[in-house]
Amino acid sequence: GDYDNLVVEKRGAVGLITLNRPKALNALSDALTAEMTDALEEFESDEEVGAVVITGNEKAFAAGADIKEMQPKSFSDVYLADFITSTWEAPSKGRKPVIAAVAGYALGGGAELAMMCDFIIAADSAKFGQPEISIGILPGAGGTQRLTRSVGKSKAMEMVLTGRMIDAEEAERMGLVARVVPASDLLNEALLAAEKIAAFSRPAVLMAKEAVNSAFETPLADGLRYERRLFHAAFATEGQKEGMAAFLEKRPAKYTNR
Ligand code: HXC
Repeated sequence: GDYDNLVVEKRGAVGLITLNRPKALNALSDALTAEMTDALEEFESDEEVGAVVITGNEKAFAAGADIKEMQPKSFSDVYLADFITSTWEAPSKGRKPVIAAVAGYALGGGAELAMMCDFIIAADSAKFGQPEISIGILPGAGGTQRLTRSVGKSKAMEMVLTGRMIDAEEAERMGLVARVVPASDLLNEALLAAEKIAAFSRPAVLMAKEAVNSAFETPLADGLRYERRLFHAAFATEGQKEGMAAFLEKRPAKYTNR
């Protein structure tokens, strides 16, 4: 499709979405988020795509929801539109892995968007924050929930209540990001990780994502049982036969989508 606020490309088996409203630090307008939902759905149904990367630019991943658009909205406006769940849940709803490649500001809805992805690779320039409190609101796209589950109560409370921004090093120390890389390597590192994932057995990848996500939804015993069922199911895939045969024959595995 044609996008005004994104650049959407395929790099082999990787879908790449670049937020492209640089003048507004990639503020997440209604139009941008609607386009992102479309782009993610396109990749989700594209058999060639095995993983997705969402990124911004050097200065900003995204500086939050668009404050200019939000300022005049009333309770009824946001309630009736179910702002923001209707347009924003795509990255967490999809079954294919989505990596956030974050440089510069990831604030408010920008941080929440990054946390909806399966993991975050941060440039050393990245800055994360939930500054909503400073503009009279609170996080509304998962910031109080995903951040708390990711880094625990004390860090989440401090960030949500004070709006303090943290740098990439602190984000890595507290487990918010998977790793930190030099800003100049960010996109390359994210694409390499996505390519790696996309080259594995597709069913195994989707099952692995589903299993990890179930840790956030279920008591341990149920999560362990769910994992075991998926683990057993993996033995019905071509990928399991091929992956293990390749290991035993000391050759690289060649996976299909089956
Ligand atoms: C709309 C924004 C914006 C935003 C920046 N801009 N953030 N426009 N919504 N969230 C615009 C500015 O108005 C400005 O436009 C241009 O981008 C450059 O920003 P500056 O402020 O001039 O840049 P700088 O001085 O470098 O400061 C960078 C910054 C600051 C620290 C990131 O822009 C900032 O504090 N932004 C707001 C961060 C924030 O509060 N985010 C949370 C939003 S609430 P002009 O036209 O003046 O050049 C939220 C709620 C989510 O996300 C809940 C569910 C969705």
